[in-house]
Amino acid sequence: MGRIKEIVFALPGNELLAAHIAASTGAERGSCEFAQFPDGETYVRILSPVSAKRAILVCTLAQPDTKIIALFFLASALRDSKISKITLVAPYLAYMRQDKQFKEGEAVTSRYFARLISGMIDEIVTVDPHTHRNRSLSEIYSISTTVVHAAPLVAAYIAANVAAPLIVGPDEESEQWVAEVARMAGADHIILKKKRISASEVQIEFPVRKIPAGTTPVLVDDMISTAGTMIESIALFGKLNEVKPVCVAVHPVFSGDAFKRLASAGVKEIATCNTINHSSNRIDVSPLIIRAIENE
Ligand code: R5P
Repeated sequence: MGRIKEIVFALPGNELLAAHIAASTGAERGSCEFAQFPDGETYVRILSPVSAKRAILVCTLAQPDTKIIALFFLASALRDSKISKITLVAPYLAYMRQDKQFKEGEAVTSRYFARLISGMIDEIVTVDPHTHRNRSLSEIYSISTTVVHAAPLVAAYIAANVAAPLIVGPDEESEQWVAEVARMAGADHIILKKKRISASEVQIEFPVRKIPAGTTPVLVDDMISTAGTMIESIALFGKLNEVKPVCVAVHPVFSGDAFKRLASAGVKEIATCNTINHSSNRIDVSPLIIRAIENE
């Protein structure tokens, strides 16, 4: 029996990665139309034949509330058109942080969002989701999940572009990941102590009094959202010995003017992975995603 035919659809803004996936896997590029009715409602129409094919939907989920409806309508229309399987490629997976009730009555949105997505599609491929208290995606997603790790690419980027790097993790939680990046980049690492005061405010403590002379600190985090974590750490580096750190992150979420504030906070360079399109993208994670799709 022949391999099931694959067809790749890009949700708006994801055309580049979708084209890359189609070109590398030999899958067909699907065509569909997205539009907005005058009252703000969403219109979706599939323009390619899809019956009995496997659909690969490419939709990174930063700013998820603006994307979820189009994704739901496309997935539903595909089901009605007798698609055999739907894989969602979401290089950034949203709603991972509210994973418990901190105050009575709060919605545990990581669980609810996972339930919503699990009802729409058959499997998901993503990059380094922010699994915090949930140890793995399978604790909250009831569908098949494939997670690819950007650490080898992050380490290779640092090794090739930063002279004498000292890898710096922003908090204890990041220790395992940061140690792995440091090992692969052939560098030492240190871990800062972070206390979160509010969604945008953090307090950082340094474990050392001096950065080894001649080293370039490289702050490595899984995501930059408000940039509070990076900016607070950079200020401490300035106080220690006026070295400008390099900032590297997997997911450039950059809420509001976070990128502008970070860029003017005394940083040598900001380098991110292209899990979300951004001018700071320097590390291409698409080979990891393509390999994961091909292996399924
Ligand atoms: C926290 O657990 C994460 O690893 C990041 O440090 C955090 O999400 C960054 O957020 P922000 O840029 O808002 O400080």
